Amino acid sequence: MLCGHRGLASVAPENTLAGLEAAHQHGFRWVEIDVQLTQDNQLVLFHDKHLERCTNGRGQLRQHSWQQLSQLDAGRWFSPEFAGERLVLLSDYLMRTTQLNIKVNIELKLHSASDALPLAKRVCQVLEQGQVDCAQLLISSFNIATLAYLQQQLASIQRALLVKRIPDNWQILLQTLDCQALHCDYHYLTQPQAHEVIQAGYQLNCYTVNDPLQAETLAQWGVNMIFTDKPLQQRPAL
Ligand code: G3P
Ligand code: MG
Repeated sequence: MLCGHRGLASVAPENTLAGLEAAHQHGFRWVEIDVQLTQDNQLVLFHDKHLERCTNGRGQLRQHSWQQLSQLDAGRWFSPEFAGERLVLLSDYLMRTTQLNIKVNIELKLHSASDALPLAKRVCQVLEQGQVDCAQLLISSFNIATLAYLQQQLASIQRALLVKRIPDNWQILLQTLDCQALHCDYHYLTQPQAHEVIQAGYQLNCYTVNDPLQAETLAQWGVNMIFTDKPLQQRPAL
């Protein structure tokens, strides 16, 4: 199973609706997005702490209101073809994924540990108010406090612990947080580790794999889902 990373980051500007449309056109059934809080506690799709790389804005995203952020150009940096593309709120993004029947891995992105609970609380509010089918969602984070809050408040949505290297205490962490999946950087994954995680009954998903041969090897190891920036397999649009 392939999951478009940040939408489909090699084809369209990351974490935008244009990226979602690109993933859909390439036949992806899953996308991964990064979500963080604005100054006025809205949930917006964005990866970096600072605005410069992916918009024409300046400074920290967290220090800008949604009204300010909604004016920015989030496409021109990628290509003139995408000039005028806007940042998008999680709620609006999920309306479109529902229409397209695409599943979403929402990565809760923390640039400050003090945002862990505000972010988790806001995610619960937005998902409880929205029309989205929880079965279409998988929430992941590097931040344990965020996952623990969701475990208490929104247990019906599947959760994944996100790590770079798989830590020695991975099984205790997954059990304690009642996670269904472990997401890791494939560079550090060994075949015995993959075997151990899968044998223990967890899904194992790997980021970010842009080489088809590498993806094939991981699939042979039993990895369930691979995050990719590229359409590794060209498939017809649905
Ligand atoms: O969720 C997998 C992957 O996106 C984690 O790393 O930095 O691309 O958000 P990053
Ligand atoms: Mg991410």
